[in-house]
Amino acid sequence: MSKQGLQHGLEGGMGTTDNLLRRLLWRNDHRKIIMSSNNIHHANSAPFFDIPEIDASISQNLSCLVICKREREIREGRMTSKIISGKRFEGKVVIVTASTQGIGFSIAERFGLEGASVVISSRKQKNVDEAVEKLKAKGIKVLGVVCHVSNAQQRKNLIETTVQKYGKIDIVVSNAAVNPSTDSILETQESVLDKLWEINVKAAILLLKDATPHMKKGSSVILISSIGGYHPHSSMAMYGVTKTALFGLTKVLAAEMAPHTRVNCIAPGFVPTHFADFITGNQTIRKTIEDQTLLQRLGSTDDMASAVAFLASDDASYITGETLVVAGGMPSRL
Ligand SMILES: NC(=O)c1ccc[n+]([C@@H]2O[C@H](COP(=O)([O-])OP(=O)(O)OC[C@H]3O[C@@H](n4cnc5c(N)ncnc54)[C@H](OP(=O)(O)O)[C@@H]3O)[C@@H](O)[C@H]2O)c1
Repeated sequence: MSKQGLQHGLEGGMGTTDNLLRRLLWRNDHRKIIMSSNNIHHANSAPFFDIPEIDASISQNLSCLVICKREREIREGRMTSKIISGKRFEGKVVIVTASTQGIGFSIAERFGLEGASVVISSRKQKNVDEAVEKLKAKGIKVLGVVCHVSNAQQRKNLIETTVQKYGKIDIVVSNAAVNPSTDSILETQESVLDKLWEINVKAAILLLKDATPHMKKGSSVILISSIGGYHPHSSMAMYGVTKTALFGLTKVLAAEMAPHTRVNCIAPGFVPTHFADFITGNQTIRKTIEDQTLLQRLGSTDDMASAVAFLASDDASYITGETLVVAGGMPSRL
């Protein structure tokens, strides 16, 4: 391994060097690793790179430091998308709906950092423009299109603009959802029931109707549901039911779109975003939720992006029709 390559890995641009570091790690004795912020500091400092030929033992120790640092960041919910493991989506075209902030933005960012051309969208032009600039600043190939998912013309435009620019669609992530009511289901107004169904379920189906003709062998769809889909909470009752519907939709679409397209779903736990702020912004509720997880923390948008990237990647090439719960061990199902 070259001095330059190792330094690249340590600084977070984790490509092939990272894979090599990982392999080295598994040959090491984990019990010997003593981790502190101090030795991380030294691992990143210049003296290590004064050695002309870095021998295997030094590489091993450095790799352990890098991996331990990553594990600590994940444990503390601080993992950022700069820590990625490769370019699995080079040459792929990915559409992510509702992707100008929160989970959708991190998903788009993750695909982009792994080499994909990403098409982001949301209702407001200003949000689209700002998100495009942020992604471009990270060197990501990105196209921004305004698309309110319940607007048929805007959905069609999203697909057509993508195909005009890139000629195909490899991955669609259906991420848009609303939660406009905290009423019990029997007290929810009909117009609100319609809106929940329209945006959270029907729009995903209609978008895929438009996208399917452009999706070829090896393509992939990911639906974003919620852990609330397993046990709809009384304060998010109808929202929870629409998320339950996505589990069924995943099964049916996986059968309908097989064998060329895999269809999977993630069920996120609680992630502090604008959408969830009415829950996670309350310190008492937040603590209660954290205590319900085995990992004692809320999820991060990057946690969700990692799971989506896995399901869309060749690493998941024999997985379809499944829902992956990404909720830190919060009870979901047996
Ligand atoms: N956060 C959580 O704890 C949590 C847990 C489980 C599941 N989820 C699911 O994760 C998904 C994303 O949620 P989030 O927490 O990342 O939300 P968020 O941070 O509030 O982001 C919402 C995004 O959706 C866009 N958007 C809103 N309505 C839209 C519409 N009708 N059409 C197109 N774009 C729309 C917004 O931009 P504009 O305002 O410009 O439209 C924004 O980019 C949702 O499906 C949600 O149900 C979230």
